[in-house]
Amino acid sequence: MRKVSLKNALLVAAALAVTTSASAAGKLEIFSWWSGDEGPALEALVKLYKQKYPAVAVDNATVSGGAGTNAKAVLKTRMLGGTPPDSFQAHAGQELIGTWVVANRMEDLSALFKSEGWDKAFPKDLTALISSKGGIWSVPVNVHRSNVMWYNPAKLKQWGVTVPKTWPEFITTCATLKAKGVAAPLVMGENWTQQHLWENVMIGTLGAQGWQDLFSGKIKFTDARVVGAFTTFGKVMDCANKDASGLSWQQASDRIVDGTSAFNIMGDWAAGYFTTTKKLAPGTGFGWATAPGTSKVFVMLADSFGLPKGAKNRAEAVNWLKVLGSKAGQDAFNPLKGSIAARIDSDLSKYNTYSRSAATDWKNSKIVGSMAHGAVAPESFMSAFGAIIDQYAASRNSAGAAAAAQQLAVRAGFGK
Ligand code: GAL
Repeated sequence: MRKVSLKNALLVAAALAVTTSASAAGKLEIFSWWSGDEGPALEALVKLYKQKYPAVAVDNATVSGGAGTNAKAVLKTRMLGGTPPDSFQAHAGQELIGTWVVANRMEDLSALFKSEGWDKAFPKDLTALISSKGGIWSVPVNVHRSNVMWYNPAKLKQWGVTVPKTWPEFITTCATLKAKGVAAPLVMGENWTQQHLWENVMIGTLGAQGWQDLFSGKIKFTDARVVGAFTTFGKVMDCANKDASGLSWQQASDRIVDGTSAFNIMGDWAAGYFTTTKKLAPGTGFGWATAPGTSKVFVMLADSFGLPKGAKNRAEAVNWLKVLGSKAGQDAFNPLKGSIAARIDSDLSKYNTYSRSAATDWKNSKIVGSMAHGAVAPESFMSAFGAIIDQYAASRNSAGAAAAAQQLAVRAGFGK
């Protein structure tokens, strides 16, 4: 037997004590764009984490701005500067894969998926979306739906209009409402919400297959159907408020609540806002329908968190990922967020009627990915596409916008 001197044993014991207490009183920095009105769901998750790991000081770092427009820019600086947060929000799909996975900046989470049983907990297609190069790159906390049209039931009744089912019908309803003195039947917000609207007009016009073909390069953006859908998008924009560029998605949602506008196309974080922030009841306080032309389609996106290489508090970050992938974590977060759990075993009794209807549609619809929220196109495409929308808003030049989008698609690697 090897002899260990008392002095050495004491030194080892002291060193162990230091490491244990350091990790017991560890730190964790998580990074997202969920601040203010968007904060409560994330705070519920952080609370759960703190219950499990009370000694860890959690820095819930946020950079506000819908769809992560500002947060993603800050993240880029930090990643490239070598000071990544311990774990950060990114959309499942190309947003993370096409940016940080291809740059070799993320840790492969395959082993964690195995040990946590997540290989069976999430739908296969969702796991496929977060996988590439033989690895799994983030943990999805939810599934949001992009193709929802929100309205105020009492106001629609008062105006005597029903929910339009196709985009041409929408344009007719818009004319009816304008004739009744509603200046902006549609409310639109800042640039990213216009991209969000654009994707819904596109999918509602081309159909789910056409949309998939567009992002796999089988259909060109210069195809006559796409150019035609751009023109429809222009007519839909003509139904909207003139101050769109200055409105956040929450301010746009407020115009449905106060009856200024009749319709808003927005993801179902709007349901979270209506119920959690505004305390409105689904069905009476606010109404919803699928975006025109998309009744059998579920345009999905998922928020997920990844583990960057070089995270300072790696062990705490892994525990964070475990909490957000757990059933308890997802069922604490999603009822407040307006999304449904990414896990297939969530407890629907904890969700309101809007979310339950989304959960049913998630099972029974044709699923396609959102462009505006990172599922189908890399960040390079999305950020440059914003400029095309701005130009289009000013020029209404459908052929020009389509040609510019085609160039972008080729540069991003999916256009042919
Ligand atoms: C989306 C995100 C949602 C919500 C929304 C508005 O991109 O996936 O969770 O935060 O932006 O900011």
